[in-house]
Amino acid sequence: MKRVFLGLLLFVMLFIVSACTGKDTDRETEQLTEDTSTSFESDTAMPIEDDAEETENQETEMIDMGIFDFETKKVMLNSGYEMPIMGLGTYALDYDTCVSSVKALLQNGGRLIDTAYMYGNEDAVGEGVRQAMEEYGIPREDIFVITKIYPSQFDDPEAAIDMALDKLDIGYIDMMLLHHPGSGDVKAYKAMEKYVEKGKIRSLGLSNWYVEELTNFLPQINITPALVQNEIHPYYQEQDVVPFIQEKGIVVQCWYPLGGRGYTSELLGDETIKSIAEAHGVSSAQVILRWDLQRGIVVIPGSGNPDHIKENLDLFGFELTEDEMEQISVLDRGEKHDWY
Ligand SMILES: NC(=O)c1ccc[n+]([C@@H]2O[C@H](COP(=O)([O-])OP(=O)(O)OC[C@H]3O[C@@H](n4cnc5c(N)ncnc54)[C@H](OP(=O)(O)O)[C@@H]3O)[C@@H](O)[C@H]2O)c1
Repeated sequence: MKRVFLGLLLFVMLFIVSACTGKDTDRETEQLTEDTSTSFESDTAMPIEDDAEETENQETEMIDMGIFDFETKKVMLNSGYEMPIMGLGTYALDYDTCVSSVKALLQNGGRLIDTAYMYGNEDAVGEGVRQAMEEYGIPREDIFVITKIYPSQFDDPEAAIDMALDKLDIGYIDMMLLHHPGSGDVKAYKAMEKYVEKGKIRSLGLSNWYVEELTNFLPQINITPALVQNEIHPYYQEQDVVPFIQEKGIVVQCWYPLGGRGYTSELLGDETIKSIAEAHGVSSAQVILRWDLQRGIVVIPGSGNPDHIKENLDLFGFELTEDEMEQISVLDRGEKHDWY
C-alpha cells in the first residue's frame, strides 16, 4: 500500500516538473490557442525516457494538429504532414516572374508556394522549384506546393489532376484544393481522395468554402480537408468563419492578405496599421501578415518583387500585443475585394 502511495507521489511530481518545462518552450504557441497548453502539457507528462533523442522525437510528434509552431514556422495538418505557415502566392505572375519569384522565396528560406490551374503558371512553379532544388540544394520533401482544380474541370477530375501533376512535374502534389464550390464538387473531391491513396497527392483542401458550404459538404466526403483557403484581410476578417473552421482541426489560409492587387495601397496606408508598423520598426505588410499568423492563419502574399518576398518572410522578430491585435480587429468592415 505504502509502495503504491510512493509510486503515485513520484508520478505526480514528474507530471508537475514536465508540465512546467513544456510551458516555457511553447509560450508563443500558447498565445495563439488556449487549448494548446492543456494538451501539450498532458502529452509531456508521459513517462520520462532516459534516451534524450527518443524524447525529442516524441515531442516533435506531439506538435498539436493545427497549432502554429513559431520555432519551426510550420503547422501540423490533420493529414499528418507539416506545412510552412508563410509562403508565396503566384496569382497573376507571368511565366518568367513566377519562376524567379519561386526561386527568390526558396533562396530566402520560404518553402510554401500556392498556385492553381486558373493562374496558368503551374509549369512555371514547377520550373522554379526544380531549379531551386538543384541550385540551392533544397530537398523536395522540404518544399510544399499547393495547387487547385477549377469548377470547369469538375466533370473530369482525373484528367485535371493528371494535368496538374504533369505541369508541375515535381513528383507529387503536396496539397490540392477545389478552387470553388460548384456542380460536381463532391465527385471531384472524391477523385482527389483516390490520388491521396495512390500517393500522388498528400493533403486535400477547399477554397472559398464558408460556413454553409462546409456544413453541407463535409458529411459527403471521406477525408476531412486539411485546409480551407479564403479571402481574409483587415477589412474582411471572417471573424465567425475562421474559428468555425479551426475548431474542426482544419487549418485556415488567407488569400488577398494585403487586400489584393489594386487594393494594397489603401490597406498598407491605413493609419492604424502604419502606426503599429512604426512602433515595431517594420512595414505595414509585415504587420498584417504577423496579425494573420497570430490568429492562426497561414499567409501566402503574392509578389513578383524579390525584396517584398524577402520582407514577407521576415515575420518572427516582433510580436503584436493584444491591444494591437484588437486595434486591427476593429478595422473589419466586411469589405470583400472579390466576388467569391
Ligand atoms: N483561392 C482563391 O480563390 C484565391 C484568390 C485570390 C488569390 N489567391 C492566392 O492568394 C495569393 C495572395 O493574393 P494576391 O497575390 O492576389 O494578393 P495580395 O497578396 O493581397 O497582394 C499582392 C500585391 O501586394 C503587393 N505586395 C506584396 N508584398 C508586398 C510588400 N511587402 N510591400 C508592398 N506591397 C507588397 C504585390 O506587389 P509586388 O508584386 O510588387 O510585390 C501585389 O501587388 C495569390 O497570389 C494566390 O496564390 C487565391
